[in-house]
Amino acid sequence: MNFKVPKGTQDILPGQSEKWQYVERVIRDLCEKYRYNEIRTPMFESTELFQRGVGDTTDIVQKEMYTFTDKGNRSLTLRPEGTASAVRAYVEHKMFGQADQPVKLYYTGPMFRYERQQAGRYRQFVQFGVEAIGSADPAIDAEVMALAMDVYTTLGLSDLKLVINSLGDKDTRDAHRSALIEHFTPVVGELCSDCQSRLEKNPLRILDCKVDAKHPAMATAPALTNYLTDSSAEYFTKVKQYLDVLGISYEVDPNLVRGLDYYNHTAFEIMITGEGFGSITTLCGGGRYNGLVEDIGGPESPGIGFALSIERLLLALEAKNIELATGNNLEMYVVAMGEEAKLKAVELVSSFRAKGISADMDYLDRKMKAQMKAADRANAKFVIVLGESELEEQAVNVKTMETGDQTKVEFGQLVQYVLENK
Ligand code: HAM
Repeated sequence: MNFKVPKGTQDILPGQSEKWQYVERVIRDLCEKYRYNEIRTPMFESTELFQRGVGDTTDIVQKEMYTFTDKGNRSLTLRPEGTASAVRAYVEHKMFGQADQPVKLYYTGPMFRYERQQAGRYRQFVQFGVEAIGSADPAIDAEVMALAMDVYTTLGLSDLKLVINSLGDKDTRDAHRSALIEHFTPVVGELCSDCQSRLEKNPLRILDCKVDAKHPAMATAPALTNYLTDSSAEYFTKVKQYLDVLGISYEVDPNLVRGLDYYNHTAFEIMITGEGFGSITTLCGGGRYNGLVEDIGGPESPGIGFALSIERLLLALEAKNIELATGNNLEMYVVAMGEEAKLKAVELVSSFRAKGISADMDYLDRKMKAQMKAADRANAKFVIVLGESELEEQAVNVKTMETGDQTKVEFGQLVQYVLENK
């Protein structure tokens, strides 16, 4: 049998996993700075949560969910995204009742979508996302976008474009919806079967259709921007003002519609520009979802958030030749020659570790030269070589690998010496 990882998934091996850990640390530090707290929710939820939350007419729900029936006959789905779960938890745990509002949450974890496999598109991918629930202040829209941008810039990416749009409020969307239905009804017979069923259910999705993208009616379709109510337009102006104050540049794209149903008002994406990146250029997406908490059974609580995948983030760093300073922090490698020296080595390695010094040794009874090579490969900062004479003297030369300098240190002082010099 020749087993392979399932299509659209990947193993993250040592060498690569350090990059993941590095990115995850940066993300956690940033969330702490912006005061977002971590929430961990299950990897599967009731299927209905996503049908309602993400929306029945979206590609995600219609085509991409990993849905199964468990032994208790419940329909469950591996989460395709994190917002619906965060909102469910917000409602279930009555977080709307907390004194501290908005509730600012973040999460990282695997999401699952049955998508066509291509570069930057996986069936299991790790999203980092944030959700700020309980405030309809345009300043928090700007904060959320600033945090997303901060992730990339902290990691050294610069060729980024923040694209924003306003999808307006319910009145905006109702008026636009009617205009779209009126516009597309005369040509509905020429559209693909998906679009035919979208016409009544969710005509906005037609604009997103890849099959009918070139149909002449697409270019002349009524733009949502023309239906923005005064209060929506005012809200959008304020969001832009706050972005200006934060010194974050952006581009307004009236055609930006996101692939999930819950959005209104602010919608945004962060794209990567320039050379070295394939056809997938969207690194991050998010927006406001006033009304979603109510749809999921809670009281009126407006929210906004975003999600980005670590996979695409790492691809972007690679494409731009940005090396993360993951470092290899082995501090001490203990080389031992002979059975007795090995007993001492085991003891010393353990005493280093007990004081927070990373330490390792040989477990293959290799010759001295091979042990030294192993120390080199591990990028050890210090090496000691234990043999008969060292055991007799109860002291050993500590070699600093970078300089080649050696200092004789008594066994009893070794830990202290490394702590002082590492
Ligand atoms: P989304 O646009 O579906 O939004 O996904 C957000 C990000 O997840 C994308 O920009 C991309 O970086 C990444 N992503 C999506 N699908 C894949 C895939 N198959 N492989 C690799 N990366 C992928 C959401 O999920 C919303 N929940 C975002 C949000 C949070 N809106 C408000 N709050």
